[in-house]
Amino acid sequence: MATLGVVVALCIAAGLLWHLAQNRVESGLAPGPIGIPLLGNAWRLPAERSWIYLHSLCEQYGPIVGLRVFGNNMLVLDKLEDVQELLVKRSQNYSSRKPMVYAGKYRSSNERIVMLPYGPMLKKQRAAMHQMLNPKVVGAYDDLLEDAAMKLLSAIVADPSKPYISLKRFTSETLFTLIYGTQFGENNEDLRTILHIIETMIQDMHPFGHVVDMLPILDRLPDVLAPWRVEARRKNISDFQFYSRLLRDVKQKMDANTHVECFAARLWDSAKYIGIDERTMAYVAGSAFEGGTDNTAGVVLWFLVLALHFPAAVKKAQAELNEVLGSDGRTPPSFAHIGQLPNCVALVKEVFRWMPTAPLSFPHFSMKDDVYKGIKISAGTNVIPNIWAIHHDEELYPEPFEFKPERFLASTEDVRTDSLNEGHYAFGFGRRICPGQYFASKSAWIAIVRLAWAFNIDSPLGVNGNPILPDLGACRAGLTAEPKPFDVILTPRSAGHVQAIVQGS
Ligand code: HEM
Ligand SMILES: *[C@@H]1O[C@H](CO)[C@@H](O)[C@H](O)[C@H]1NC(C)=O
Ligand SMILES: *[C@@H]1O[C@H](CO)[C@@H](O)[C@H](O)[C@H]1NC(C)=O
Repeated sequence: MATLGVVVALCIAAGLLWHLAQNRVESGLAPGPIGIPLLGNAWRLPAERSWIYLHSLCEQYGPIVGLRVFGNNMLVLDKLEDVQELLVKRSQNYSSRKPMVYAGKYRSSNERIVMLPYGPMLKKQRAAMHQMLNPKVVGAYDDLLEDAAMKLLSAIVADPSKPYISLKRFTSETLFTLIYGTQFGENNEDLRTILHIIETMIQDMHPFGHVVDMLPILDRLPDVLAPWRVEARRKNISDFQFYSRLLRDVKQKMDANTHVECFAARLWDSAKYIGIDERTMAYVAGSAFEGGTDNTAGVVLWFLVLALHFPAAVKKAQAELNEVLGSDGRTPPSFAHIGQLPNCVALVKEVFRWMPTAPLSFPHFSMKDDVYKGIKISAGTNVIPNIWAIHHDEELYPEPFEFKPERFLASTEDVRTDSLNEGHYAFGFGRRICPGQYFASKSAWIAIVRLAWAFNIDSPLGVNGNPILPDLGACRAGLTAEPKPFDVILTPRSAGHVQAIVQGS
């Protein structure tokens, strides 16, 4: 029954799409490969490393490429100059998101920030995020990050064979503590729930994850013919119950006069002033968790991969750490030292540049018809900035495939934590720029610099005695870039380091 409904609707929509696809040939549209009607260019988009593919299209057709994917207009931007003009200077008209039926309308009840259209709700949620995550406030979380980083090191000392799991735990637990003021309980129930929400959310937000997002007309079907809607609504209720419970636990502690310093507590304090209700608060807090966990872990994983390929850069950072903190391992690097550690700052910035973990950012949806460099950009175009391509533009970053932290040294006049976010574009652009960027860059810095301080980072040796290096191009499938599983050997740099780690955690 349900299948029949889908088939009928598909046929109606196919006719419509055919018509739309024919208009593609109109002049003034961005150059790009001609798609086959109905599917557009979708059959060409690879699941893995799509940023490399999109960059190759730009090399072929020019820095601004137009694509049609299942009836959606996409505009791929390969050059910083065009991104700055459209997503930053003209941001007023380029800061919305494509409406998502399954993940946005039903599963998120139009409350999840990452999918919100441009408008009053987005302004409120971003204001709330900014209040909790601006650079000044983030300074209050230095202790939290330093403690968590020490726990990360001790988990690796205790079980060096599982750095991946220890790292994932580091990023999810620091965020959880930042947001709700507590750690995961003994049984890890909340951790499992939250990781499950993230995983299914990523699938549900995929542009081709659900048929209704390719053919929104299917949303007209009644529930009996649209089991997906019932499923999405069920997830809406369970997500909300979960985030709502965490939020209320914080309120209870506040009411009992327990001091809780966390994102959720600040939300309770300022909700009235910002103008958001409890439901929105639950989503703001939950979205921060969803937005930050995988990306941050990805940065640290890329650091390890790069450390294996470019050991000289790590040696240089380690020499700087020895010089500033002594080589006996007694003093771990902390945020108080950042001003004396320019090489360690440059190292982390170069990781952000070399492999941005959101290489295609998140598409911005245009709201008005526009003309740019003679190209017609109609309202409702998904504009995709290729951050990876910008980070490998040799006019901006000479020898882009080399890992050279020095490139950031000359421009770093005074080394502050904010400078971690300057000189690269890993956090996106304009009015949708990542609101968690200051917390994120500090998390990545403390984790990376402490790993470099604590361990020698080596590859296992093969039968012939040569190191087995991970493939620099091996990424997991999906829109975010996480390296495929790889082997790394982390050996404490001295007994003094081990002692400091065990005592400090
Ligand atoms: C290294 C780690 C991170 C990277 C590379 C990263 C990158 C990004 C990028 C590229 C975007 C899209 C920006 C755009 O549309 O132009 C984004 C959005 C977002 N990020 Fe992050 N992020 C990271 C960590 C975090 C953290 C720690 C949080 C929360 C504490 C967070 C919360 C968000 C949210 C809520 C959005 C959606 C904003 C909106 O749609 O208006 N992110 N991030
Ligand atoms: C947005 O579009 C409107 C209508 O086309 C135009 O008047 C306005 O200047 C645009 N804003 C920006 C920042 O480009
Ligand atoms: C999502 O759940 C909330 C709370 O149970 C409810 O108020 C809202 O109407 C639901 N939204 C949708 C689209 O089902």
